[in-house]
Amino acid sequence: MTAFSDFRAAVAAVAPTAAAVFGSGLSGAADGHFAAVATIAYADVPGLVPPTVAGHGGRLAVGHWDGVPVVACFGRVHFYEGHGWDRVTALVRMVAELGVKTLLLTNAAGGIRDDLNPGDLMPIRGHLKLLDGQAWRGFAVGDDSGREGEAPAEPGNAWRHLVVLEAATGNPAGVYAALTGPCYETPAEIRALRVMGADAVGMSTAVEAETAAALGLAVAGVSCVTNKAAGLAAGTLSHHDVEAVAKRAVGRLGDTLTAVLTRAG
Ligand code: HPA
Repeated sequence: MTAFSDFRAAVAAVAPTAAAVFGSGLSGAADGHFAAVATIAYADVPGLVPPTVAGHGGRLAVGHWDGVPVVACFGRVHFYEGHGWDRVTALVRMVAELGVKTLLLTNAAGGIRDDLNPGDLMPIRGHLKLLDGQAWRGFAVGDDSGREGEAPAEPGNAWRHLVVLEAATGNPAGVYAALTGPCYETPAEIRALRVMGADAVGMSTAVEAETAAALGLAVAGVSCVTNKAAGLAAGTLSHHDVEAVAKRAVGRLGDTLTAVLTRAG
């Protein structure tokens, strides 16, 4: 176990320029790419809470990703786990505070666009924030006046990274719809989301992206399509199936992140 002060010292030594967040079952993307210098459990970082969902690791590591100094965040907490947005975004604010300039967000998602099949990676060029409950109203930086009137930034706000992501995944970027969850959608909801312009659907990322962008980070996002969204394929969705597909797709996700990180600068 590393104390947070030791972890911070390792961050100072490694001087990471980018951070990556790995969602549901996607931590294996780091295998063969990432060499950790120091690791700390979220539970041991002031302000962070450990994820409760199976498949979400819950540890922060600093080290080198194919030679590039990075912070790797294995696992995230979700709004549907009962946390307020301040808790959900605490990880992003933490990595911004550690001094990184680029944030790569990954997630597992259901594919809505016809060409997206299980195992595909979709770079995110924009998002729909369809969150119920306590709506996210933007993140005030430096003052408490709020940011009403300002357009929130989306995961694709780093256009250079988006171009690299499209080349590395071989898939055109798409729009990610963020819903509250925790249940998967109904087929009727998916039909509605398609009309609204969504290409993939999940339960994370959007608010993290807006928070990071508000803090001045370049944000790029990629969805790992673990299933066709509800009603678009035979059978019912299960968290188990989502995890199994994610495990198979992590190799390509790791290579894709390398393409972005080695050009991040
Ligand atoms: N819907 C919402 N979130 C998801 C899905 C889905 O179909 N697959 C993986 N995460």
